[in-house]
Amino acid sequence: MKILVTGGAGYVGSHAVKRLVAGGHDVWVLDNLAYGHRAAAPEERFVRGEIGDTPAVVKLLKENGIEAVMHFAAYAYVGESVTDPAKYYRNNVVGTLSLLDAMREAQTRTIVFSSTCATYGVPAEVPIPEDHPQSPINPYGFTKLAIEHALADYAHAYGLRYAALRYFNAAGAAEDGSIGEDHDPETHLIPLVLGVALGKRDHVTIFGTDYPTPDGSCIRDYVHVDDLADAHLAAIEKLADDDGPTNIKCNLGTGVGSSVREVIAACERATGKPIKVVEGPRREGDPPELVADPSGAERLLGWRARRLDINDTVASAWRWHSSHPEGYGE
Ligand SMILES: NC(=O)c1ccc[n+]([C@@H]2O[C@H](COP(=O)([O-])OP(=O)(O)OC[C@H]3O[C@@H](n4cnc5c(N)ncnc54)[C@H](O)[C@@H]3O)[C@@H](O)[C@H]2O)c1
Repeated sequence: MKILVTGGAGYVGSHAVKRLVAGGHDVWVLDNLAYGHRAAAPEERFVRGEIGDTPAVVKLLKENGIEAVMHFAAYAYVGESVTDPAKYYRNNVVGTLSLLDAMREAQTRTIVFSSTCATYGVPAEVPIPEDHPQSPINPYGFTKLAIEHALADYAHAYGLRYAALRYFNAAGAAEDGSIGEDHDPETHLIPLVLGVALGKRDHVTIFGTDYPTPDGSCIRDYVHVDDLADAHLAAIEKLADDDGPTNIKCNLGTGVGSSVREVIAACERATGKPIKVVEGPRREGDPPELVADPSGAERLLGWRARRLDINDTVASAWRWHSSHPEGYGE
């Protein structure tokens, strides 16, 4: 297929691009490089541009006969979305609606959208099934939920075919060590802990040690970025099948939770280095446990995460970070 990947120079998007290219698809990347890295995307068919530039996106879609869009482009810092919600609503909502306008005009009918477990808010049950109420507790989660609603309405009215994939915590790096995670600022636990092992940070803080979890620290579901890429490929293939589903909403997680302390221990094993830890208070809005019920993805996509052991995921992240201590160096 001919596929446009927005945000394809970012962390998850670049791994999906690699997987699509390996699967024989023709891929174009659209990224404004606000947070992405030129070196993370393929050399060819890279367009530096805005999802909100509807005329340019229409041209890109039409001139290349694009059949489907994978839409990763967004801002994704939860804390910043609280202090600067306008930035998030403008990019994640208005930008995405502009992209959908361009798709309508170019008659590109298929989209796979990066949603998030943040749309559930504080879960009433764990593991979290897809029919759990979606009640975000921050603007970032609301922007993603708003687009889930828009996709459902556009599907009904305009015949759009879509998948809304609610990722849990993306983690790890490509097995060949060629691409990996490089966020600035970095807020994700595994790269932060590995940064301590690399001597880039003095310590890692555990926010909250009195949660009702076995070791008192928060539990999250770390899903390998290559598994996410496989799920995107499965979703686009299902949507391309005329006899297949026209809309798919599912969690992408392992179904296995790891506590902050367990992640730090896995990082110590992978790096062979002790990690200095500082225990701090809980952060507002951090639920004790976020773990996916992954059965919907297995039913709808025939997909299941292959990397269930946090040690394997951390080891793949360490291969990237230890060989690229400055990330992409851009
Ligand atoms: N990383 C996670 O754990 C996680 C979890 C749940 C959902 N998500 C979602 O997955 C997607 C990818 O996340 P990521 O961690 O790879 O983020 P990322 O910041 O690494 O990648 C996003 C990319 O989009 C680009 N971009 C942003 N706004 C743009 C615009 N207006 N026009 C063109 N390009 C633009 C950025 O430059 C960046 O390269 C995001 O939509 C995010 O909300 C991520």
